[in-house]
Amino acid sequence: MPEIDSAGGLSGRHALVTGGSRGIGAAIASRLAADGARLTLLSRDFVRATETVARLPKSAHAHAIACDITDPAAIADAFADARAQHGAVDILINNAGQAASAPLRRTSDELWHRMLAVNLTGTFLCARTAVADMLTSGRGRVVNIASTAGLRGYPYVIAYTAAKHGVIGLTRAMALELAGTPITVNAVCPGFTDTELFQESVTHVIDSTGRGAEEARAAFVRHNPQGRLIEPAEVADTVAWLCSDAAASITGQSISVSGGEVM
Ligand code: NAI
Repeated sequence: MPEIDSAGGLSGRHALVTGGSRGIGAAIASRLAADGARLTLLSRDFVRATETVARLPKSAHAHAIACDITDPAAIADAFADARAQHGAVDILINNAGQAASAPLRRTSDELWHRMLAVNLTGTFLCARTAVADMLTSGRGRVVNIASTAGLRGYPYVIAYTAAKHGVIGLTRAMALELAGTPITVNAVCPGFTDTELFQESVTHVIDSTGRGAEEARAAFVRHNPQGRLIEPAEVADTVAWLCSDAAASITGQSISVSGGEVM
């Protein structure tokens, strides 16, 4: 396996991004490709992931694999495919997630289990699989895309908030367990970020409260002291730094990318 280049880039590294077809995941894939990584994108939406792959630089040798990260057998198959293509996974970006909203009393068992399955259990399953590769190859980076909802409470997103708090706990426990190895484990916690997931949340507020589009959007934006949405590329820049050699001493951290919403 080629070594990291002297400029501190990710040349020769194999990065696997879950939910890499769109939004924050696609921005991360693009950023890591620019830093020289070879890319595997896992997504439920194979067609969309293939379109994203086509926009990445040829040097990334990117490929898409259809995978629902709530399915352990599908994860095992996807990692086997990824290894066959690019060798052991050096960098795992646990990005796939869903953010269904409901107040406590309308949080059904189904919604609760679905939010934990995709946001927390899927993250755990992919991390467990990737870390086995990383321990063999003697290097690795795990970056879990949590949320400011992993660091503070929000009303009406009970299951999502609980799951993202779980991701922070998982990150800390893994970081300590792996601290004697070259593997680091960190979480990145975006505030409200301009993606389709965010647009779906705005639509949900419009539909459930009768507010206008501007008012609904403003209700989210006002959480950010900078008075704006986060851009996916800003999240990707933080992820890229955590994946670099420069961040070798950074582990177990939950870095808020939120314009100061959490401090
Ligand atoms: P998005 O909805 O645009 O993209 C999510 C990606 O995850 C999609 O590619 C989707 O296909 C994939 N995905 C969802 N469920 C999956 C499953 N079961 N198996 C495989 N793939 C699955 O969302 P966005 O905004 O890009 O979010 C990415 C991550 O960032 C998520 O974990 C989300 O919770 C987190 N986040 C997003 C924020 C926002 O305001 N957009 C704020 C804080 C965190």
